[in-house]
Amino acid sequence: MKNLDPEFYTDPALYERERQLIFWNTWQLLGPLSYLTSIGDYLATEIAGAQVFVIRDNDGKLRAFRNVCRHRGARLLPEGQGNCKRIRCPYHSWVYGLDGSLERTPWFGDDPKFDPADWPLHEISVDVWRGLVFVTLGTDCTLESQLAAVIGELASEPIETYQPVAQHRLVFDANWKIYTDNFVEGYHVPSIHPSFFEAIEFEQFETTVHDNMVRMSAPARDELFYRGRWLWMWPNWTLSVFEGGMNTSRINPLGPARTELIYGFYFCDEKRIDESSCQEVIAQNLAVIEEDFEICVQTHKNYDSHGYVPGPLSRKQEAGVHWFQSKLSDLLVVD
Ligand code: FES
Ligand SMILES: [Fe+2]
Repeated sequence: MKNLDPEFYTDPALYERERQLIFWNTWQLLGPLSYLTSIGDYLATEIAGAQVFVIRDNDGKLRAFRNVCRHRGARLLPEGQGNCKRIRCPYHSWVYGLDGSLERTPWFGDDPKFDPADWPLHEISVDVWRGLVFVTLGTDCTLESQLAAVIGELASEPIETYQPVAQHRLVFDANWKIYTDNFVEGYHVPSIHPSFFEAIEFEQFETTVHDNMVRMSAPARDELFYRGRWLWMWPNWTLSVFEGGMNTSRINPLGPARTELIYGFYFCDEKRIDESSCQEVIAQNLAVIEEDFEICVQTHKNYDSHGYVPGPLSRKQEAGVHWFQSKLSDLLVVD
């Protein structure tokens, strides 16, 4: 068992293949359904550079579109969450309904060949699983079949009852797979997360690989803000449970050498009453998350400088890394 070739992490041509074969060909976690309760509520984001949004239309139905004007391609809605009655392009003021139909094209002028009905927004698929909204730019697989093992894993956790309390976006300069390799192993915990190390029974840290899911667990010593279970799901999202809540994240590449994490923190009603204790849990979570960035950034530099030859992976500690890397090379390497 060996680590991947460093070119996997730095080659721009491979990154382009990843965008097509992974990010634009799988279900991507967008955010909580509770952001989209009223007509006109929307959530706009990027998936490896592709701009998309989900909106609740006038019939109360959730719909998803590319966030791209059919005229000259401007972005329609700003990133983040909001509400609108109709969608007006900021460039030349074309107006779309919440169902994506082109309603008005002010000052366009007469053109007998132009029929607005020919120019609706490009619709994409949206689906919901237990209070979490997912979209895809195109895949044959159902959301459930992609989710696979996580469905059973979380069956007894009341995750749809948790409400979002905060979102955080974190950006660092390393390839998304370097961060993922790091997320799916606990081998680095003693060195990179010393206080977290103190809070768990590290000798009993366990990493197991399931269908499209890597599960990491360790018994918590008292007072851990995590409940000792961390899940990573193919191809790029995570969910960790803590007492009375959870966090989710999406690992989204901004380029071959830059990555953003979009974190959501959720709590049960009982916990949400105490705002400051929620904020404390969030701050503790974020501190651990940020401890990983520097090691990823420096590793990326070594992969990028032809100064690294693939080294051995530990069977005990790095089964998740091996599984993730094997799945990637099966998808990306053309023989
Ligand atoms: S690009 Fe949207 S109206 Fe021109
Ligand atoms: Fe870490």
